[in-house]
Amino acid sequence: MVSTMMYQYRSNIDNNYRVSLTDILCKTRISTVYNTSDQDVVAKVYEDINPMKSIFRRELKFYENRQVKSVIGNCLGYRYLHHKKKHVLYLKKYVALESYLKQRLNVINTLDDNLVKRICLQLLNFTLKIHEYGYYHTDINPSNMVYCNKTERAILIDYGSVFNFKQSSYRRPLLNYNFSSLDTHYQKFKYNISDELESLFYSWIVLFSSEALPWHGIGDLTRIKYLKRNTPVEQLVSGIISETIQQIFLNYFHQLKYDIMNRHEINKSFYINLFS
Ligand SMILES: Nc1ncnc2c1ncn2[C@@H]1O[C@H](COP(=O)(O)OP(=O)(O)OP(=O)(O)O)[C@@H](O)[C@H]1O
Ligand SMILES: [Mg+2]
Repeated sequence: MVSTMMYQYRSNIDNNYRVSLTDILCKTRISTVYNTSDQDVVAKVYEDINPMKSIFRRELKFYENRQVKSVIGNCLGYRYLHHKKKHVLYLKKYVALESYLKQRLNVINTLDDNLVKRICLQLLNFTLKIHEYGYYHTDINPSNMVYCNKTERAILIDYGSVFNFKQSSYRRPLLNYNFSSLDTHYQKFKYNISDELESLFYSWIVLFSSEALPWHGIGDLTRIKYLKRNTPVEQLVSGIISETIQQIFLNYFHQLKYDIMNRHEINKSFYINLFS
């Protein structure tokens, strides 16, 4: 669909910024992301109805946090607009990580261990950093992972479900059960950084392996939970071509399960060192 919408608006970055929305890049239940006449910018448009409005506010508040800006400011420039009962976030345009990896695979025809390690480390550091500032992303999955060709960095996008555990009282996140940790299937556990690390793990399996997750496409939550609990991790990593990466992922997962079982504070440097 081609739209000719041309907006002139007050932007929090640049008063004279004008942009038109050209075509839809992605439409989800929650928002519509458009390409724009500015090739470096996409527009994420939310309708002025609940719950979209509150999701927009949560995402905007996250981008406006000073500490957050210090980590992702240069990476995720933003502008916003309230126009005709729509709420728009203007975001720097990235490539979806999945398509970036496919492109790379077509060119070099193999999985490059260093590239995989670098991307995992970037996403891990990113997750730990926003955690340091008091946030859980809570929706870590491959569709929320993007790559910046200029900075050669992989980052997380989509902060509509972000949760500030330093300011707000506990809110049970809306979960994408395909990528959520096993513990999040049980009501009794408070959301934790280890849940984020487990979601990273499942996302990496999807990105770097030829096999889908065993519970992919299954709607029944009890069945998903059963498969998550009972699939050997060796099977999860078996679709990864590189033995080095398989081994790193095995170590990562074993340590994570150990930390979760013993209710440890996670040892950040252990995970970081695996990819360094
Ligand atoms: N800055 C961006 N650059 C490039 N593509 C983007 C960008 N932001 C979003 N997209 C694309 O649009 C899709 C949807 O965006 P996003 O995940 O932010 O929306 P959402 O409505 O919160 O989605 P959901 O809740 O279903 O994950 C992303 O998976 C990605 O493919
Ligand atoms: Mg998303």
